[in-house]
Amino acid sequence: MNTSISINFDRSSSAYDIEIAAGALSNIGEWASSALGGKIGKLALITNRKVDRLYGERVSESFVSAGFDVRTFHVGDGERFKSLKTFEKVISFLSTSQIKRTDAVVALGGGVVGDLAGFAASIYMRGIPFLQIPTTLLSMIDSSVGGKTGVNTAFGKNLVGSFYQPAGVMIDPLTLETLPRRELTAGFCEAIKHGAISGYDLFNNVNDFLMAQPIGRFGKGFVVSGELQSLIAKQVQFKAYIVSGDERESIVNDSASSRKILNFGHTLAHALENATGYKYLKHGEAVGYGVLFAASLSKKLDLINKSELQLLNDVVHRAGILPPIRHLNPSEVLEPLKQDKKIVNDSLQWILLSGIGNPVIVPHADIPKSVLVSSLDELIHHQ
Ligand code: NAD
Ligand code: GLY
Repeated sequence: MNTSISINFDRSSSAYDIEIAAGALSNIGEWASSALGGKIGKLALITNRKVDRLYGERVSESFVSAGFDVRTFHVGDGERFKSLKTFEKVISFLSTSQIKRTDAVVALGGGVVGDLAGFAASIYMRGIPFLQIPTTLLSMIDSSVGGKTGVNTAFGKNLVGSFYQPAGVMIDPLTLETLPRRELTAGFCEAIKHGAISGYDLFNNVNDFLMAQPIGRFGKGFVVSGELQSLIAKQVQFKAYIVSGDERESIVNDSASSRKILNFGHTLAHALENATGYKYLKHGEAVGYGVLFAASLSKKLDLINKSELQLLNDVVHRAGILPPIRHLNPSEVLEPLKQDKKIVNDSLQWILLSGIGNPVIVPHADIPKSVLVSSLDELIHHQ
C-alpha cells in the first residue's frame, strides 16, 4: 500500500510530496531524481554510522545507479550532536566536497539528522535543495514534515534554526523494523500528541493500535503492518494540514488550527530535555511526559474532565515505559522556560486541552504557580 500526500503552502512557491512506500529505499535514486526535477548532480548524504550500516549501502547504490555522485558525512548519534559544532562540521564537509547550488543535501536518519541537515541545506550558499528520508517513527510522522530545521544551543532547544521546506520526503516504513523499542515508544508519544489535538478519529487510531500490541510492547521481531502504515499516513496528513495553513507559526495566530498547537506537550518536554543535558531522555519520551503534564494542568484548570485525563494517561502508558525522572529538581526543570521560543509578548504560551481535539492556547500568567508546581511534583514523583 503506497500513499502520496501533497503539501502546499499559501504564500510560498514551495510545495512537495511526502511519499509513503514500503521498500522504497531500493529505488530511492529514481525518486530523488524526480523530486529534484530531473537534475542529476552531487548528493551530500548526511546520516550517522548506525543508520549508514543498516541502510547506507542500499541507498547509495540506488543513488549511483540513477547517476548521482554521492558524498557521505556521518554526524554523531544522539540529541547532543544536534549542535552548532556539528553544524559547522557539516558546512565544512559541504564546502570541501564542492557541493554547489545545483546539488542537493539528503538526510537519511531520524529527526536529529533531519533537523541538522535541513538547517545546513537552508544556510549553505543561501539555500540548496534538500531531501528527507526519515527512518524513525518520530521523524516519519513529525520532524520530516513541515520544514522546521535547527540545532540546540546551551541556551535552549532548537534555539537556532530556519523554516526550510524539502523538495521531497520519502518514507519507507520497513525501516522501522530495526528501530529500538525506546525509539518506537518515543515516536508513539508524538503520535499521541497529534491524536490529542486533532480529535477522536486520530486519537482512537493511535490508542487502538497501541492496545493491540503485545504486553511488554514492541519486542524483537516488530513487524510493520498495514495498520501501522495507514497510521503513519493519517499522522502525516494531519501534520501536513496544520503546517500548510500556518507555515511559519505566526505569532499572532491563536486559532485552534495554528501551528502552535503542535507544541502540545512540548513546553515541559523541552525543559526536561534541557534539565537532563539532552542525554537522558529521548525527545519523544520527553513529549510523553509533556502530554501527561499538559493533561494534568488541563484537568486542574477544569478544562477537561476526569475520564479525559484518565484516557490521556492510559494512552501514554500504552506507548511504553518512560525513564524515571525522580532525580530531577522541579525548580531546575522550570528554569529554562524563561528562554522558551513559545514566549510571546513576554508571556510563555502553554498548549492545553479543553477536550480531546480541542487545543487551547493559555498564557503562562493564567496558570497559578501552585498549579504548575503541584502538577510537576506529581509528574516527577508519582509516574
Ligand atoms: P534520533 O534522530 O536521535 O534517532 C533516534 C535513534 O534511532 C538514533 O540512535 C538513530 O541512530 C536511530 N535510528 C534511526 N533510524 C533507525 C532505524 N531505522 N533503525 C535503527 N535505528 C535507527 O531521534 P528522533 O526521535 O528521530 O528525532 C528527535 C529529534 O527530532 C529531536 O531533535 C527533535 O527536536 C526533533 N523534532 C523536530 C521536529 C521538526 O518539526 N523539525 C518535530 C519533532 C521533533
Ligand atoms: N513539531 C512542531 C512543528 O513542526 O511545528
